[in-house]
Amino acid sequence: MRLLVTGGAGFIGSNFVRHVQRERPGWEIVVYDLLTYAGDRRNVEGLDRVSLVVADICEPRALDEAVAGADAVVHFAAESHNDNSLHSPLPFVQTNVVGTYHVLEAVRRHGRRLHHISTDEVYGDLALEDPARFTPETPYNPSSPYSSTKAGSDLLVRAWVRSFGVQATISNCSNNYGPYQHVEKFIPRQITEVLSGRRPKLYGSGANVRDWIHTEDHSSGVLAILERGRIGETYLIGADGECSNRRVVELLLGLMGRPADDYELVDDRPGHDLRYAIDASKLRDELGWRPRYGDFERGLADTVAWYRENRDWWEPQKAETEARYEVLGR
Ligand code: NAD
Ligand code: TYD
Repeated sequence: MRLLVTGGAGFIGSNFVRHVQRERPGWEIVVYDLLTYAGDRRNVEGLDRVSLVVADICEPRALDEAVAGADAVVHFAAESHNDNSLHSPLPFVQTNVVGTYHVLEAVRRHGRRLHHISTDEVYGDLALEDPARFTPETPYNPSSPYSSTKAGSDLLVRAWVRSFGVQATISNCSNNYGPYQHVEKFIPRQITEVLSGRRPKLYGSGANVRDWIHTEDHSSGVLAILERGRIGETYLIGADGECSNRRVVELLLGLMGRPADDYELVDDRPGHDLRYAIDASKLRDELGWRPRYGDFERGLADTVAWYRENRDWWEPQKAETEARYEVLGR
């Protein structure tokens, strides 16, 4: 198998590359990544049978050549951060929508299998006390430029399956955490704030709920769908990890030896989705997938340890990231 992984130098894409390298030792992997501020070549450096092409998914010639040389494509490349999309939406439209169009056209031309990576945020949000969770039948109702461009990309994939017979599957996963996540995101931002001698920053009152999954579990779900998923189907990936932002910060502070209330409340994000929650029973029942990192507190402790031990990985991103938050007032 020769696998092309777009966005494979980012947080989840590089975890998937390392996961596949371990689990499918015979496979060749080509990472296709523009190395934006969010991509880091160190994430995939020195791995056997893994090579890197530095190029834009919006550059059709380079993409066509890479797709021609692969048996299957897993498409992670995206602009991925909500706060950035509220400040500067155009790169989200370009990479997430136009870029996915180019990926679809390339796999159509060459008759290649595609797995498209998406997010549960396409479904909008749920009330805190609502017993409902997202299922593949939940209507799309995205709130932000990030989630609406991801929703747009999913709809393009569905249209290319139906109209052109493209052999594609889609997965919509909940919030990921783990090593190698950019420090702009919630959990690494708080860990690195504490490691930098500052306090965690909670948006609004901290009541918003996210459904956390370790990125290793996301990767095993994607591999299961790539190998055994039904063409044209959408699978939701989640590990029953609902937790309020305030509780996450309290857990992190406890793990880092600081008082549980040693955080700041900062201005809320405009349009801030209240709650996400995934019902992953289709993936569990149909493909027998199970998460392995069920213990969130233990996963957080491992993640804190990784950021403690890898300052040289995250310190170069930190000042620039906090300068961007300064502009946003958060
Ligand atoms: P990330 O921002 O860490 O990585 C994105 C990668 O894509 C980077 O390596 C970047 O250089 C690359 N990239 C960006 N624009 C590109 C372009 N035009 N051409 C080629 N490469 C480009 O993101 P992530 O958190 O790893 O997310 C990966 C995917 O998973 C995204 O599609 C995202 O929507 C989806 N997702 C993320 C989460 C989450 O919690 N982070 C949850 C569900 C789904
Ligand atoms: P984030 O990691 O940006 O993921 P998403 O917006 O895709 O869910 O944020 C996760 C949650 O944490 C979200 O409710 C916003 C909140 N948040 C904070 O409270 N403080 C922060 O510094 C950040 C970055 C996010």
